[in-house]
Amino acid sequence: MIIAHLSDLHLDGEPRAEERVAAVMDYLADLAVDAVVVTGDIADHGAPPEYARAAELLKHPAPVLVCPGNHDVRAAFRAGLLGASPSDGPIDQAHEVGGVLFALCDSTIPGRGEGFLADETLDWLDGVLSGGDGPAFVAFHHPPVEVGVPLVDAIRQSGEQRLAAVLARHPRVVALLAGHVHTGASTTFAGVPLRIAPGVVSQSLLPAEPGGGRGWADGGPLDHERPPSLLLHVLHDDGRVTSHQRVVPC
Ligand SMILES: [Fe+2]
Ligand SMILES: [Fe+2]
Repeated sequence: MIIAHLSDLHLDGEPRAEERVAAVMDYLADLAVDAVVVTGDIADHGAPPEYARAAELLKHPAPVLVCPGNHDVRAAFRAGLLGASPSDGPIDQAHEVGGVLFALCDSTIPGRGEGFLADETLDWLDGVLSGGDGPAFVAFHHPPVEVGVPLVDAIRQSGEQRLAAVLARHPRVVALLAGHVHTGASTTFAGVPLRIAPGVVSQSLLPAEPGGGRGWADGGPLDHERPPSLLLHVLHDDGRVTSHQRVVPC
């Protein structure tokens, strides 16, 4: 199984973001991936026209699975991307693709940049992971650990020991998928591989890199010139996940 993983589209009604998303989807159109997972910040302002455009762009023969980020707005996300009634509760979704479970958790706190998995989301996650023993991916927007980009680490997912307790009960989880950082990165959380997709809209820099020390007032540690990129996760029969990064000319 191959999973395409993209994140942080930040569609804002301007051509630049749309062109980047279109380039990524054009690249994916020729790939026989089994699922496309998008880990949040799909719309930049959470506005209905941004979701309408996202729905037009995020088309693929394989299932396209989307979870919200801190720039998304739950009600508009539900209405525009999921065809659901525009309610404000956490957007938690379970999808089974080819015998593999994808548990998409809502790590957002409405109106805030930082992340947190609500008790109801963790209870839901514990329940769906209890429903089988095949491989499972758990996806959310905010990484539950620091990754070395200080401005993003300051708005990571907190309360992470509660997530660790759930994961300890479910060894079927082969990897955690996240975004938010706008950089392709690989680490672990609670002994489970954590794969962070690069940004489609921009890439973030480490403080050691030129420009990586900028504060938000100066544009943040973001490089808007680098082309969009994404990850391709290969799920092996032994449960390992190998992640390949691809840069898409744009
Ligand atoms: Fe983002
Ligand atoms: Fe984010």
